[in-house]
Amino acid sequence: MAASPAERMSRRYSRRTVEVRDPHAELLADFRAGMLEAPRSLPPKYFYDARGSALFDAICDTPEYYPTRLEASLLERNAAAIIEAAGADTLVELGSGTSRKTEYLLAPLERAAGEESLYVANDVCPEILDEAGERLLERFPGLTIHALAGDYGAALEALRADGAAGQDGARLFTFLGSSLGNFEDPEAIELLRAIRRTMGSDDHLLLGLDRVKPVDVLEAAYDDAAGVTAAFNLNLLSVLNRELGADFDERGFRHRAPFNHEESRIEMHLVAQVSQKVRVEAFATTLELEAGEVIRTEISRKFDAKMIDRLLSASGLRREREWLAGDGWYSLLMLRPDPAG
Ligand SMILES: C[S@@+](CC[C@H](N)C(=O)[O-])C[C@H]1O[C@@H](n2cnc3c(N)ncnc32)[C@H](O)[C@@H]1O
Repeated sequence: MAASPAERMSRRYSRRTVEVRDPHAELLADFRAGMLEAPRSLPPKYFYDARGSALFDAICDTPEYYPTRLEASLLERNAAAIIEAAGADTLVELGSGTSRKTEYLLAPLERAAGEESLYVANDVCPEILDEAGERLLERFPGLTIHALAGDYGAALEALRADGAAGQDGARLFTFLGSSLGNFEDPEAIELLRAIRRTMGSDDHLLLGLDRVKPVDVLEAAYDDAAGVTAAFNLNLLSVLNRELGADFDERGFRHRAPFNHEESRIEMHLVAQVSQKVRVEAFATTLELEAGEVIRTEISRKFDAKMIDRLLSASGLRREREWLAGDGWYSLLMLRPDPAG
């Protein structure tokens, strides 16, 4: 009996969890390391529950958030050339989110590889993977999607364990949205090196990086007038309340996103408006925050040419091409593993 359209779809989409560590244990460890004492901070991956992912998608549509539009324009203009240069039948994306911009790459990938085309999408948020998967299957009838739910490092480890099973062509890895900018140098280099270790000698990495630009443009992008980024930042508190049995009160905090010139990065802060006590059942403890105290929830580094060169040479990656948007406001880099690196 012939397979129904729904069965054919389900054969073309699969999702598996690739966490190396239990995500709850990871949150406990990160909270213990960053939140029990001032200065307080958490890694940004905890923003992205289903609501956080939807809010990030809404940020991309705000007039102030230029990175998505600039990167999309570079992809739209150059996707066919990128896929041709990569000679790829497989696209592997880290932190894929809604995969909206990725569609520019998937169109020429599917045209070139037809039924052989494979999209391996990784994200910490399983809901966004399923939602994007459903939309992409409709749009690209030849495409197969393997979704990997979990951390970047866990996805790369799973890919190394799998090998390039069943695929003949090369792979194009993508890391878009300047998500590398969420990491300070040591972690950024470790992540790039993990990507390089996972790549074969014929594979490419397409890396999107946001560049230094006037401060008013930067700060507006992370503090839009409609308050979407503020809602996204504050949503972290409801994640902590749910996951750790905490009682953070959103009304006691304000979103701030100053540019730190010395470190060349936007910092997202939640600033306590009054001194307050917050109970955290998972630690059987009560945090005491002073008025004005900051929880740093994200860094978003803004790169210049020197910073990029340093990162690439420390990571064993060689630049093959670079496309710049606008006045050098955003870069897309096409990279190869450096045999000498
Ligand atoms: C800033 S958004 C960018 C989304 C998309 N790549 C873009 O360019 O619009 C970051 C995405 O990476 C995911 N993410 C954040 N930290 C992650 C991590 N450590 N491992 C895997 N995915 C992560 C988030 O869920 C989110 O979808």
